Amino acid sequence: MSLEVKLGDIVLRNPVLVASGAYGYGDDYSAFFDNSVIGGFVTKSVTPRPRRGNPHPRVAETPCGMLNSIGLENSGIDHFLEREWPAVLEKPCVPILSIAASAAEEYAEMCAKAERAGGVRAIEINLSCPNVKEGGRTFGTDPRVVESILRGCRRETSAFLIAKLTPNTDPVPIARGAEAGGADGLSLINTLLGMAIDVERRRPKLAMGMGGLSGPAIRPVALAMTYRVCRTTSLPVIGIGGISTWSDVVEFLLVGATAVQVGTALFSDPVAPIEMIAGLNEYCVRHGHESITGVIGALESGDLILEGVHA
Ligand SMILES: Cc1cc2nc3c(=O)[nH]c(=O)nc-3n(C[C@H](O)[C@H](O)[C@H](O)COP(=O)(O)O)c2cc1C
Repeated sequence: MSLEVKLGDIVLRNPVLVASGAYGYGDDYSAFFDNSVIGGFVTKSVTPRPRRGNPHPRVAETPCGMLNSIGLENSGIDHFLEREWPAVLEKPCVPILSIAASAAEEYAEMCAKAERAGGVRAIEINLSCPNVKEGGRTFGTDPRVVESILRGCRRETSAFLIAKLTPNTDPVPIARGAEAGGADGLSLINTLLGMAIDVERRRPKLAMGMGGLSGPAIRPVALAMTYRVCRTTSLPVIGIGGISTWSDVVEFLLVGATAVQVGTALFSDPVAPIEMIAGLNEYCVRHGHESITGVIGALESGDLILEGVHA
């Protein structure tokens, strides 16, 4: 029984990765599971300069999920590449570098820096950031902007480039833009814009007013978007959003995802990846698959008629 999947030439021992922001730089859950168990992880997004993040409170619990507005707190790419990256490269799984920026050209500059630091095999481009020069419009909501960001990054690195899509727009044209710009893979979804109010104080629960919704509440949205994107691209797709159990992983694989990322589930169940991997093994045995690749895209009635779906 093989759980191996591939992203280009990169072999993952299994399709279970940990999502950006849920795992720091690969040590946050060392008391619960070893990196040699998972397929890989995505580092917390780094930015061109250090960021202190947003004011507190930055997180709020919601039904079947949570809101966060961390604000990309990190020490900046120079510090990261010098101090953190060497240890990240030692981890016995595939580390994926996540980059975020507030100006389009900064993505390519960070790719160039990462390339110079060496060892980078895969970069996830977090497109859910406000474009300061365009009045704060999120990069990832404009297909042309996404295409040009990817084109710039492509020039600077030969690493496997993953465009991480936002759910706060139709992801299909964005996926096409990323592919046209030279992305090697796509990941989706980042968090959905959300809000919660403390009615006694009559104030938003988050200091920033709104934040990103994650957790099981967003899984059906993530699954539908993953399904649609998988049907419009031949690039490998990584499904993300509320994945908490092995059967959630299977749902994303069946609609065509090559791998998945687990985020919020870790906060309530820190051994979730171990249980997912065991469950995937059992599922393959039960369904007579010698390899997990037999599950990818194996949805029966895969040709759902999307027109006329009311949502
Ligand atoms: C506390 C927190 C911090 C996050 N930080 C990042 C980040 O730095 N970069 C990024 O691309 N996504 C970030 N995300 C989004 C997750 O990677 C993921 O796309 C999203 O939470 C949906 O998956 P989940 O429901 O499994 O958490 C963060 C999510 C949470 C909850």
